[in-house]
Amino acid sequence: PVLVVDFGAQYAQLIARRVREASLYSEVVPHTMTAEEMLAKQPSAIVLSGGPSSVYAEGAPSLDPALLDAGVPVFGICYGFQAMVGAMGGTVEHTGLREYGATEATITDTNSTLFNGQPDQQSVWMSHGDSASKAPDGVRVTATTPGAAVAAFEDDERKLYGVQWHPEVMHSTFGQRVLENFLWRGAGLDADWTPGAMVDELAAQVKETIGSDRAICALSGGVDSSVAAALVQKAIGDQLTCVFVDHGLLREGEAEQVEKDFVAATGVDLVVVDAKDRYLEALAGVSDPEEKRKIIGREFIRVFEQAARDIVADRGDEQHPVKWLVQGTLYPDVVESGGGTGAANIKSHHNVGGLPDDMQFKLVEPLRALFKDEVRKVGLELGVPEEIVWRQPFPGPGLGIRIVGSVDAERLDILRRADKIAREELTAAGLDRDIWQCPVVLLADVRSVGVQGDGRTYGHPIVLRPVSSEDAMTADWTRVPYDVLAKISGRITNEVSEVNRVVLDVTSKPPGTIEWE
Ligand code: XMP
Repeated sequence: PVLVVDFGAQYAQLIARRVREASLYSEVVPHTMTAEEMLAKQPSAIVLSGGPSSVYAEGAPSLDPALLDAGVPVFGICYGFQAMVGAMGGTVEHTGLREYGATEATITDTNSTLFNGQPDQQSVWMSHGDSASKAPDGVRVTATTPGAAVAAFEDDERKLYGVQWHPEVMHSTFGQRVLENFLWRGAGLDADWTPGAMVDELAAQVKETIGSDRAICALSGGVDSSVAAALVQKAIGDQLTCVFVDHGLLREGEAEQVEKDFVAATGVDLVVVDAKDRYLEALAGVSDPEEKRKIIGREFIRVFEQAARDIVADRGDEQHPVKWLVQGTLYPDVVESGGGTGAANIKSHHNVGGLPDDMQFKLVEPLRALFKDEVRKVGLELGVPEEIVWRQPFPGPGLGIRIVGSVDAERLDILRRADKIAREELTAAGLDRDIWQCPVVLLADVRSVGVQGDGRTYGHPIVLRPVSSEDAMTADWTRVPYDVLAKISGRITNEVSEVNRVVLDVTSKPPGTIEWE
């Protein structure tokens, strides 16, 4: 792998993603890992990330020179760059001149390994207080900025490179090119982390992990669980059984998508449990959002548990009980929880998402090395339908938390029809990739007076909540063109007779959340 050494920067994960975008497999490791441990991973190249500290600050993370002497190509970024300069005999000083934000860099050699074919002036993103004032002996300085006499150095012989700025952020105009030049030209690596290669490698690891055991997977219809299931199916075929709990809270067409399209495309062995009535009963009369969530989660566990037992009874012969539970965990969660990065890593889990203690599965997480965009590529490679691969986030409790008020079959039906229209029109307007997600909410306990034909109506409002976001932590309301909104409003009020008003939510998050409940 290409190792990205995390010096405590918020950017390490981003660097790892950029390396993947250059079609090379990357892993983030903490700077506290010893050089010996890092080299034991047989890295094809090493990228040293930025970091918050000054190299002179007390307790500043240090760089073991052994990393630079191992013959492995190394690229330092910001703090990593300065640490390299220091370790290689150059000088890093507190110049008093700070550079933050967009800066113009002057490239002094546009034929160099890093800057080949790029303009000699380029906008770069800076964030540093210290600067390299003297380059190490024997390297070439190939860029300067107003605040840094040495802003980039290159040593083709030892394959050591570095830049003072952050090539991984979008604001560095040629950042990705610089990184790719390091990886492809400097380190001479082949861009081999392609979707096909990912599928082969991950499937092989899953196969090795699971062997001839049986596995189950709870399908939700979302991207991650679908792609995880498709991958495991590719690896172990019908040793995998997927369980789809139809709780009746999905949107129009979604259950069919899983039951028919997904199965047809991937050949997974699917058990569909129709739990619609059970959910309606359990949810009857409940309007508190958290109470609804609890009930929906609890019922899911009960249904899933029963399905798992049935599978054991039906299909698991004595030698091959169901031992594995497939989960669609992604790399950002793994890094965040400080976990290891083996691509199909496994751990024992006794209580996954609230599963009861007496169901002791081992977890297989085939996507735990992947970022979301890679999951999508793998999904497409595996033939998972585009509608699933590009699906916007949808909450587990589904429409259950999009009816403000209690949930019943009639209300679900109203909401489902309104939601279908909104989705159709947003898709027709080509807005699916601009919008992070668009909850459509039924205010079931609110009625307002309207007029239709010659008659007075007393109907419900539907709320449209289109939001733009990067990670759902914050969001802004999406400026959907008026004519698209008009079309949605016109169709909903015409086609869904119980609804006589459509309103638009123009609140950002915070203070609002994305969902209404
Ligand atoms: P909020 O409403 O908190 O939503 O701004 C943030 C993101 O999380 C989704 N969401 C949920 N997902 N179970 C889920 O699996 C839930 O109970 C739940 N509540 C909200 C929401 O759709 C958005 O993407």
